[in-house]
Amino acid sequence: MSSILIFDSGIGGVSILQHIKQLPHPLDIHYVADYAAYPYGEKEENWLIKRIDKLITNLEHNIKPDVIIIACNTASTLALPTLRHQLSIPIIGVIPAIKTASRLSENKKIGLLATPGTISRIYMDNLIKEFASDCTVTRVGSTELVDIAEKKLAGSHIDPHKLQKIIQPFIDNQCDQVVLGCTHFPLLMQDLLALNTGLHFVDSGSAIAKRTEHILTEHASTAHCIDSTFYSTQTLGRSLTENLLEIGFKQFKEI
Ligand code: DGL
Repeated sequence: MSSILIFDSGIGGVSILQHIKQLPHPLDIHYVADYAAYPYGEKEENWLIKRIDKLITNLEHNIKPDVIIIACNTASTLALPTLRHQLSIPIIGVIPAIKTASRLSENKKIGLLATPGTISRIYMDNLIKEFASDCTVTRVGSTELVDIAEKKLAGSHIDPHKLQKIIQPFIDNQCDQVVLGCTHFPLLMQDLLALNTGLHFVDSGSAIAKRTEHILTEHASTAHCIDSTFYSTQTLGRSLTENLLEIGFKQFKEI
């Protein structure tokens, strides 16, 4: 059975996990949420690189996964080079699907909805220059939307007016494709579509699953059980734990 480590500041990586679970491989899933440092989107860059580096290096040592997925755009657009330098196992990063959005856009006006950290990274400037130089890109950074996704998973009601206000700049600027550049946001896909704005939302989930499958096929396995453990750097609330059990997590550990 292949062992896979999925990492995010919170619950966002579950949007990636949903795609990973569709893979035909038997998997031992270790999901790690760094709640003690959540939200990542407003943290200082060097501090974040050091924290992620320390955390992932320790986890790799203890869990010994076959693959690591940094299921967080805010972390991937910052810490991937350092992590890949430190560790020799495959590390998959999640980065905003700018290339896909630019390909799909008919009017060449696209949106990037991500954390304040991600939208202002030099990495993003380069990604846009490389893959969407023919597009006008509207960037919106929102920690409020990250919080809304967390609260949804903890059982709270979502106020559609708040969502509408956050995505309004994309409508004002006539974007036709909007990149969900934070793994928390696909968890709100139904709520965003229910606003009937006509916007199309693009995320990286299926591309990450494809990349993971490619790597996992190199680890042939015969077992057929799926196990999943949720690790957190902070105690989880009761309703979030109940929802995580429903999603399929079997064990919980505080690290
Ligand atoms: N889920 C994370 C991302 O993809 C970040 C959320 C946060 O700000 O902690 O960017």
